Amino acid sequence: MKVLGIETSCDETGAAVVSDGTHIMSNVVWSQVAVHHAYGGVVPELASRKHIEKIVPVVDEALSPAGLNGDSLDGIAVTCGPGLVGALLVGLSFAKAYSYARGLPLVGVDHLQGHIISVYLEPDPPAFPFVALLVSGGHTNLEYVINPTHSEHMGHTRDDAAGEAFDKVAKLLGLGYPGGEVIDKLSRKGDSERIKFPRALLKNEEFDFSFSGIKTAVARFVHGQEKGSALSIHDIAAGFQEAVVDVLVQKAILAVQTKRCEHLAVVGGVASNSRLRERIRYEAERAGICVHIPEADLCKDNAAMIAAVGYHYLREGKTAALDLDAYSKLKRL
Ligand code: KG4
Ligand code: ZN
Repeated sequence: MKVLGIETSCDETGAAVVSDGTHIMSNVVWSQVAVHHAYGGVVPELASRKHIEKIVPVVDEALSPAGLNGDSLDGIAVTCGPGLVGALLVGLSFAKAYSYARGLPLVGVDHLQGHIISVYLEPDPPAFPFVALLVSGGHTNLEYVINPTHSEHMGHTRDDAAGEAFDKVAKLLGLGYPGGEVIDKLSRKGDSERIKFPRALLKNEEFDFSFSGIKTAVARFVHGQEKGSALSIHDIAAGFQEAVVDVLVQKAILAVQTKRCEHLAVVGGVASNSRLRERIRYEAERAGICVHIPEADLCKDNAAMIAAVGYHYLREGKTAALDLDAYSKLKRL
C-alpha cells in the first residue's frame, strides 16, 4: 500500500511516499530555516506563506522522480496537529483537494504519533509495546506505545521542551537560530565537567520534565561571568547539553524499567543530538535495553513518518472526511 504523506506543521514543507508503512520511496523536505533565521525563531505568518509557495513543487518532487503519480497511490496522510494552525491548514487544504480530485482516501495524522512511528522506517524497529522518548522543539514526552496507533502517556515537560531549551540557550549565547545543532557541535570541543548546571529531576513527578531552570541558570552564569574567565563558550555549551542529556537519559531508562519492557525509541529533532545518542546507547546497553534511534534526517520533521502512520490508519479504515480540521495544541495520543 503506497501512501503520500504531507507535513507542514512548522517550518518544513514535506512530502513523501512510503509503501506498507516501512519502505521510503521518496522523502522531500524543504526547510524554511533560512527564511526565519534573521528573526531568531519561526514567524508563523511567513511559515504559512512559504508553505503555500512550496507545497506543489515539493509534492511533485516526491512523486515524479520516483515514477509515481496519483494513480499509483492508495491514500493520502496529512499532519493535522499539533503545530502552527496557519501552516497546518496549507498542508491540510492541499491534501483535501488532492484526495477529492484523485478519489483517494484521506487520513489525518498527529505529528507526535508520526515522530514515534519514525522508528518503523528503519530496518530494525522495536517490538510492541515499547517506551518512546519524544524530544523535539515543541514537546518532551514519554509515551508507552502499545500499537502503531495507540500510546499511553507517561509524562511531559512542565515548561520548555528540550529543543526549545537548546534554541533559547543558543540565542542567549549569540549563536542564532535554530540552536540545537550549533550547541551540539560546539560541545564537542568543550569540557562538560567544568560547569555543573542544575538537573531538574522532579522526584514526585518522575516522568515529567522541566528545562526552564537550566536555561535560567545558563543566563545567570553568562551574565555573571568575569571578563577574561578561562571558561569558553564550548564549556558552557557542553555543560548545558550534559545537564539536559542527563535528565533525558535517566528518565527514559526509568520509564522502560517501570513498564518492564525491553525496547526504547528515541525520536524527534533532539534525538539527532550526538551526545544524547551516545549516552542513551551506553546506558541502555548497561541496563539490558534495546534502543532504537532513527538516522538524523528521520528524527527531524519529515513527511515519511506521517505517511507511515497513515498506512496503519488506512488499514484500520480510520479515514477522515473533508471537514478534517487543524489543531494547535497537544492531543493525548
Ligand atoms: O522534531 P523537530 O524537527 O521539530 C519539532 O517538531 O519541533 O525538532 C526541532 C528541534 C529544534 O529545537 C532544534 O534545535 C532541535 O530539534 N535539534 C537539536 C539538534 N538538531 C535539532 N537539538 C539538539 N541537538 C541537535 N543536534
Ligand atoms: Zn516534529
